[in-house]
Amino acid sequence: MRKLTYFIACSIDGFIGDPSGDATEMVRFVDEGYSAFFAAEYPETVPTHVRHLIGMEDLPNKRFDTVIQGRASYDLALKEGVTSPYAHMREYVASRTLTESPDPNVEIVGDDLVARVRELKAEDGDLGIYLCGGSQLAGALVDEIDELVIKSYPIVYGTGMPMFGSDFAVTEFTLGEVRSFGNGVVVRTYSRKR
Ligand SMILES: NC(=O)c1ccc[n+]([C@@H]2O[C@H](COP(=O)([O-])OP(=O)(O)OC[C@H]3O[C@@H](n4cnc5c(N)ncnc54)[C@H](OP(=O)(O)O)[C@@H]3O)[C@@H](O)[C@H]2O)c1
Repeated sequence: MRKLTYFIACSIDGFIGDPSGDATEMVRFVDEGYSAFFAAEYPETVPTHVRHLIGMEDLPNKRFDTVIQGRASYDLALKEGVTSPYAHMREYVASRTLTESPDPNVEIVGDDLVARVRELKAEDGDLGIYLCGGSQLAGALVDEIDELVIKSYPIVYGTGMPMFGSDFAVTEFTLGEVRSFGNGVVVRTYSRKR
C-alpha cells in the first residue's frame, strides 16, 4: 500500500495562495538552508524545468514516484509551455474537461478520480504519491489522504484559497516530525489517525 501525501505550502493562517490561488509570495522565502532541505528530502517536488535551472536534475526521487494535480494547477505549467512539469515522476492530472493529454507522460483522470487514486495506492512500491494540489483536488481526495506535509510560511493572508475545497468535516491527524528553518518556515508532518 502506497501513501497519498498532500505536500503543500501555506500561510500561517492556512491559505495555499491568495484568493485566486497565487502562491508566489511564498517563493521569496526560499534560501540556501531551505533549498538544501528540498534537495535532501523532497527533490522530486521541484518541477523538472526548475530542477534544470538550479542543478537538481540528477537527484533521485526520495519520497514520491507519482504525482497528481488538479487541472487548474496543471494549467499554470501549460501557460509556461511546459506540458510535463514533473517529468521525473508518473504524472496524473484530474480533469473532466481535458479530453486528450497534452503530453505522453501525463494521464488525465476524469470521472473515476477516487477509484483511480485507490488503484495507485494499492500498487506495490516503496515510494508514494504526491498530491500537489490545488484546493479543489485536495478537497475531492481528502478522505484518501494518508499524510500531510504542511510547509507554513511566516505570512498572514487574512483570506485566500483554503487548503481543502471541501465541506466541513472533522478529520483527525497525528503530528509527526516538525522542522523549523532560519527563514521562518515550519514544516509539519502529520499522519491520518486510523
Ligand atoms: N501553495 C501551494 O503549495 C500550491 C500547490 C498547488 C497549487 N496551488 C495553487 O492552487 C491553485 C489551483 O487550485 P484550484 O483549487 O483552483 O484548482 P485545482 O485543484 O488545481 O484544479 C481544479 C480542477 O481539477 C479538476 N478536478 C477537481 N476535482 C475533480 C474530480 N473529483 N474529478 C475530476 N477532476 C477534478 C477539475 O478540472 P476540470 O475543470 O478540467 O474538470 C477542476 O476544475 C493555483 O492557483 C495554484 O497556484 C498552490
